Amino acid sequence: MQTIEKLLAKFPRRRHSVLPTPVHELDVLSGMYGRHVYCKRDDLTGIGFGGNKSRKLDFLVSDALLRDCDTLLAVGANQSNFCRMVAAYGSVNDMDVHLVLGGKEPAQATGNLRLDLMLGAVCHHVDNSDWEVWEQEARELESKLARQGRRVYRMPVGGSTPVGALGYVDALSEIMDDEQRLGIRFDVIIFASSSAGTQAGLVVGKAITNWPGKIIGISVAKEAAQQRKDVLALAEHTAEMLETTIDPGTVIVDDNYLGQGYAIPTTACENAVRLFARKCGIFLDYVYTGKAAAGLLDYLNTGRFVPDSRILFLHTGGNVEIFE
Ligand SMILES: Cc1ncc(COP(=O)(O)O)c(C=O)c1O
Repeated sequence: MQTIEKLLAKFPRRRHSVLPTPVHELDVLSGMYGRHVYCKRDDLTGIGFGGNKSRKLDFLVSDALLRDCDTLLAVGANQSNFCRMVAAYGSVNDMDVHLVLGGKEPAQATGNLRLDLMLGAVCHHVDNSDWEVWEQEARELESKLARQGRRVYRMPVGGSTPVGALGYVDALSEIMDDEQRLGIRFDVIIFASSSAGTQAGLVVGKAITNWPGKIIGISVAKEAAQQRKDVLALAEHTAEMLETTIDPGTVIVDDNYLGQGYAIPTTACENAVRLFARKCGIFLDYVYTGKAAAGLLDYLNTGRFVPDSRILFLHTGGNVEIFE
């Protein structure tokens, strides 16, 4: 999509993601529900086991290099997908990587944490579940590293800054190219929303292009009102950076599939993970994509999509968590 391409040309981007990601119809689901259900495979972005974070990091790491930084500092939970991807991006760009990881240090490093260590990241464990405490620890570590002469690029949870969100402004343009290539129009894009960067980017992409479909974020961490507020704020900042504006009405968040909270599995999530694995051969995770798929399946079951509509399920990755 030319308009987006032109706007993004001002921002440096070191592309490690393998794009465009594949899009294919999930025939079994389409057959079961009489709607056309497609999946965009952002779990297959190529580097570091893939996922939505690589689109963000293509922009974030370029910004870090432009600022002459030599160290990446990121924050997340022990099994953070974002931290694993930061470790991959840092190591391939010869940068040092420090990760502030929330939660008790496990006796054995598994899943994402195992990959962080394999990639050579220095892990700082904080035995606390409060995201604010992790951020505070990261600020202190940043000052310490700066005193040692390091030029640090610190990123918040999920890499959800306006620069990071550009990855999903670009993804909206890629989805419009997908539509053209497939000769179809999607009515809805549905996916997991947490630190807000994915949804904010898509919403800004929609504003720039007047893409007519709905963008529905299934909240996997916060109640809808808070999540909507966070997405809106980030979308507005990102839009401002691109000298445009957004319509707040385009920020749609549904928290009905969150259950007891972030990373606490629900039965609907477990069923969705099983169904995708067994009927589609696609692996989801229990924190993000499983809950988003629970939302998708419930919408399909309860007739929330009109007959013959075309739904795009955005698979945002995260399935390394299965090996936790
Ligand atoms: C696999 C996966 N899906 C979805 C999300 C949510 O994306 P965002 O944080 O941009 O809202 C994340 C990250 O938090 C993730 O790791």
